[in-house]
Amino acid sequence: MTRYAARVKELSVYLDSGGEARFCPLSEATVPITDRGLLFGDGIYEVYRLYGGKPFRMGAHLDRLRRSAREIRLPLPDLDWEATHRELVDLNGFGSADATIYIEVTRGAPEGRGHAFPPPGVRPTVFVMARAFEPPAASLYDEGASAITHPDIRWGRVDVKSLNLLPNVLAAQAATEAGAWEALFVRSGLLTEGARTNVFVVQGGVVRTHPEGSRILGGITRTVAIELARQEGLAVLEEPALESDLAQCTEVFLTGTSAEVMPVVRVDGRPIGCGRPGPITHRLRLAFGEVLSRES
Ligand code: PDD
Repeated sequence: MTRYAARVKELSVYLDSGGEARFCPLSEATVPITDRGLLFGDGIYEVYRLYGGKPFRMGAHLDRLRRSAREIRLPLPDLDWEATHRELVDLNGFGSADATIYIEVTRGAPEGRGHAFPPPGVRPTVFVMARAFEPPAASLYDEGASAITHPDIRWGRVDVKSLNLLPNVLAAQAATEAGAWEALFVRSGLLTEGARTNVFVVQGGVVRTHPEGSRILGGITRTVAIELARQEGLAVLEEPALESDLAQCTEVFLTGTSAEVMPVVRVDGRPIGCGRPGPITHRLRLAFGEVLSRES
C-alpha cells in the first residue's frame, strides 16, 4: 500500500489502476472524467459512523454494500474492507473521533460512454473517505424537527443504495427551502421513507413503518429501532402508514446514521400530536443511546 507521508486530516483512499490502495488527502483524490458514477450514477455507496473512533454496525453496512453490488451486478473488488477501514482511521488520527466513513464503488472508467456494462477489463472505481462528523443540532432532539411531504418519484429499486440520488437531492432542497430538516416521500398516498432517513409513525401506541422491499432502503438504524421498540414491549407493525395518518398520529420519528432517532413535530407546517417530541420517541432515543454506549 502506498502511504501519504504527512498525517493530514481527512485522508481518503482509492484503488489505483493496478488495484493498489492509495491514501491521499481528500482534496487531491480524483476520478477520470469518464467514470460511470459521474456519467450514469452507475454505482453504489455506504455511510457509517464512528463513535469515539469505533464503528457502529460496520458489518451490517458492509453486508448492505455487498448486497447493493450484487443487485446491480457490480463485481466488488477483492479489498480487505476491515483492514482498509483501520488504516484510514489510523492515518486520519480518528482513533477516538466522531466521524463518518463514506464508501463509493462505481462500474469504473472506460474510455468512452456507452450505456451497457463496460468490457470486463475495466476495474470498478473504489473510493473511501473519512470525515469528522458534525451531529445535527441538539435542539432537533429536544424540541423536535420539522418535515415536509414530497412526491416519491424515485426508481423502483431504492433498496439498492445507488448513486442515483437526484430525487432525494430535490426533495432535501425543497425541505431546506421550507425551513424543514427532512422530506418525507409519499407514493400512492403511502409514506415510504425520508430523503435520507426511514420514517416511523405512532398511532394508538402502535409503532408503524414501511416494510422492507424495493420501495425503501433497509436502514441499519431502522432495524435497531424496531428491535429496541419490541424489547420495550411496544407493538411494531411493518406496514406503510398513509399520508393522511399524519393528521391522527401522536408521534413521528426518523431513523438514520446521521439522525439516529429524531422526533418530528411538524409536517407541512401542521403539528404532530401536541407538537412536542413524544414519549415513545424519547424511550427509543434513550434505548438507542444505551446501544451506542454498549457497542462503542
Ligand atoms: N442515508 N433511507 C434513505 C433514502 C437513506 O439514504 C438512508 C441513509 C436511510 C437510513 O439508513 P441507515 O440507517 O442505514 O443510515 C434511509 C445515508 C446516511 C446517506 O445517504 O447519507
